[in-house]
Amino acid sequence: MIHEAILDHLRRSDAYLSGEDLSALLKISRQALWKHIQQLKEEGYEIEAVPHLGYRLVSSPDRLFPCEIATNLGTKFIGKKICYFDTLASTMDYAEELGLKNAPEGTVVVSEAQTKGRGRMNRQWASLKYKGIYLSLILRPKILPNATPVLTLLCAVAVCDAITEVCGLEPKIKWPNDILIHNKKAAGILTELNAEMDAVKFVVIGLGINVNNDAHQLVEGATSLKDQKKDVVSRVRLLQEILRCIEEKYLLCQKKGSAFILEQWRAYSLTLGKRVRIASHHTHKEGQAIDVDSDGALLVRTDSGLIERVTAGDVVHCR
Ligand code: BTN
Repeated sequence: MIHEAILDHLRRSDAYLSGEDLSALLKISRQALWKHIQQLKEEGYEIEAVPHLGYRLVSSPDRLFPCEIATNLGTKFIGKKICYFDTLASTMDYAEELGLKNAPEGTVVVSEAQTKGRGRMNRQWASLKYKGIYLSLILRPKILPNATPVLTLLCAVAVCDAITEVCGLEPKIKWPNDILIHNKKAAGILTELNAEMDAVKFVVIGLGINVNNDAHQLVEGATSLKDQKKDVVSRVRLLQEILRCIEEKYLLCQKKGSAFILEQWRAYSLTLGKRVRIASHHTHKEGQAIDVDSDGALLVRTDSGLIERVTAGDVVHCR
């Protein structure tokens, strides 16, 4: 808390802030202040200390500290509560526990690394420390359980909007929620539901984004934003933009329904119009991907002319 208060005062001051004023504002001794400043420097904050003038914040590290994310975030409810970890097994498990304990809608769990990051279809999600964004978001939508796939589409579109805005790249979505750049996967979304038969209690949306991984740190078929942009990307800025985009779309959905999400999803889709093969559990289907329906299911015209609704599985683009 005291560190956040120090940073807050330094951020708000254009010039140097004297040790005397700062320690008076914080109601601590000059010596205690000096110790906290040293600790902040160890965390990666560049703080200039000039005799007779005082302290000045030169730069902040690209760590996903709650105070960094909260600065100028500007959301109404997403990210008002942020739980930050250096390392977690999986942010999904922690968020699930919080959800069960009635954590408010919009709570974010973020970790700099994960030891058991997981993806769809029981896959692992490589979660290298300080390289990516690994977060889970708790939402409490008033919808039926079968409408939750639209939330995943909403988040996929929000992540694409944020990547476009912050990195100037051109992301695409492979159904349902793989985010690709130049046909390589840069991000993925995992939605886990806690529901009764006819009501959603809460949803945990997990976002995994390869941000500053170098090419040799990526598995085959994967890419990172840095790899594509050939430049380091600010994880804090990207994360803030993602939270803003999700909130904006989520609130609009509550007001106007989800049709606009499907429109935006279609515009980013790499799958529609392609011949696809879908593997799910023990079945395989092949055909032309023609659309997504209002529940987020993929509509596939098989060779016999039948339109099949696909709600789960892995899509391979054939051509
Ligand atoms: C996928 O494409 O298969 C989805 C990947 C989702 C990974 C994220 S990282 C943060 C959150 N915690 C996890 O263990 N998984 C999700």
